Amino acid sequence: MCGIVAYIGKREAYPIIIKGLKRLEYRGYDSAGIALLDKGDLNIYKKQGKVANLEEFASGKNITGNIGIGHTRWATHGLPNDINSHPHYSNDGELALIHNGIIENYDILREELKSRGYSFVSETDTEVLVHLIDDIIKTEKVELVEAVRHALLNVTGAYAIVILSKNNPNQLVAARKSSPLVIGIGEENEFFLASDATPIVEYTKQVVYLNDEEIAVVDLNDGLRILSITNQDKTPYIQQLEMKLEALEKGGFEHFMLKEIFEQPRSIHDCFRGRLNAEKGWVALGGLKEYEQKMINANRLIFVACGTSWHACQVGEYLIEGLARINVEVEYASEFRYRNPIINENDIVIAVSQSGETADTLAALELAKSKGATILGICNVVGSSISRITDAGSYTHAGPEIGVASTKAFTAQVTILTLLALSLANKKGTISETTFHTMLADLEAVPDKVKKILDSDAKIKEIARIYQNASNALYLGRNSSFPVALEGALKLKEISYIHAEGYPAAEMKHGPIALIDEEMPVFVIATKGTSYEKVVSNIQEVKARKGKLICIVTEGDTQVKDLADHIIEIPDTDENLVPLLATIPLQLLSYHISVFRGCNVDQPRNLAKSVTVE
Ligand code: G6P
Repeated sequence: MCGIVAYIGKREAYPIIIKGLKRLEYRGYDSAGIALLDKGDLNIYKKQGKVANLEEFASGKNITGNIGIGHTRWATHGLPNDINSHPHYSNDGELALIHNGIIENYDILREELKSRGYSFVSETDTEVLVHLIDDIIKTEKVELVEAVRHALLNVTGAYAIVILSKNNPNQLVAARKSSPLVIGIGEENEFFLASDATPIVEYTKQVVYLNDEEIAVVDLNDGLRILSITNQDKTPYIQQLEMKLEALEKGGFEHFMLKEIFEQPRSIHDCFRGRLNAEKGWVALGGLKEYEQKMINANRLIFVACGTSWHACQVGEYLIEGLARINVEVEYASEFRYRNPIINENDIVIAVSQSGETADTLAALELAKSKGATILGICNVVGSSISRITDAGSYTHAGPEIGVASTKAFTAQVTILTLLALSLANKKGTISETTFHTMLADLEAVPDKVKKILDSDAKIKEIARIYQNASNALYLGRNSSFPVALEGALKLKEISYIHAEGYPAAEMKHGPIALIDEEMPVFVIATKGTSYEKVVSNIQEVKARKGKLICIVTEGDTQVKDLADHIIEIPDTDENLVPLLATIPLQLLSYHISVFRGCNVDQPRNLAKSVTVE
């Protein structure tokens, strides 16, 4: 995590960097800092807390300069205080550096540098980098870029870095390995560097995504040069950004999360647009089409993901096994990568990731690739690391998701997995033509049904008001509504800090039932379908213990209505598509509870949206 941004050109760097940091704040908000080069002076401003704190600290100061770097931190090594904030600087104040990632061998390097006379002011792993580069410049008598290259050859771990140097007032040097870095190309040797394209899109649509172990030099006179850390020159591959600036604004909503929840009719539609035609009866995921036969013939499809994306994969397992009868496993990427899993060429490993940058998910893919498996990706962020290292993949097209708690990205991931399951099932002949056609039509109708659920927001808000002071909550569901229950519980935990657990409804009696009393809200997904009667029995069990029941039911349901304290109706749909609808009221409930509790909805404590450290 951590967000980095840098500017070099003719404009004032400070406003561009501050605005960029705000866009990147979803990556961490423990502290923020900026360094600017102004008429030969290197000035650094750092502050614990959000970018707004830094802005307040800087207000009234005459901050100028056309070259600068900025950082917003998610603390790994060292407390989130002013000293540990980036940029870090060399002992003589000649160099300043920002970093996203973790330097794993920092301890050894630190001791070595200390023995060479360097003093350290922070507890961070990053500070070793700036001293190491400085040491190489001085001892090897090389230029900045050479020193950066030599330094990186001695470093293990992950990094996206940008370095500012008093002695090189016309350039910035950047590099990346396992942490993202995008370079925006402006006019007349003006460059914008950032962890993702959101701080850049306002100024230019032309970008270069730096690859692992590449160094970029952006120079006011000489433009852009890219070389590998093994010193080979590379030709920059310039791409056109498709992101729209409006997508990065709140658009009249109080929070990004609410905006993103309300965007779902559109984002789900965008996800299947051009990939599904119910009338003509076809579905096609262009990026994965070539691999469909391979998926049908594969030993197993292994999905790897983290957090909310892992929940989407769980829904995918029900869909693909249920409809296409292909063996699916779902793994936490962080566990998969370290447990010496059995993988071979007949396996297909599919990463699902909103950001496309999650360190564990990336590493799981690399491991699978090294064992000869085919690797595929389902990502939201175009040009992200996962989308670039995979053999093929599909984008979810949900648009930028800024709220740290994932909402529209989840439903877009589930939509892609539904399309994939339907396409595989149709090709394999495991579902009838009639089922195929009915499901396509039902999927096409999902955006309108989501809209209808969003119309009941006022009612959902009132339910949230009643349970805002709960200390615990239980979420229950069966079949593909079980991962929806997991996701509902995660949303509540993330943004309202209420302890919540998701369980398969029938498992409740193997433990969680002991927790149920009149204080415990129990959210149950009890829509019509194969397990409906079983879930109704579970509801009875909760009621018998005086738990408070908030049930999501199919429109027109009467049985659950008589038992529950509150019901939230969702339109009828094919059972396989329920996750796309049942998720919506759970997102709204969490959102409103968080607002009632006065929590920071978009930037919940301790969390970051893009987890680029393990
Ligand atoms: C973080 C985010 C979650 C996200 C998870 C995986 O924990 O806060 O919202 O689900 O990372 O991220 P990815 O980008 O791989 O989907």
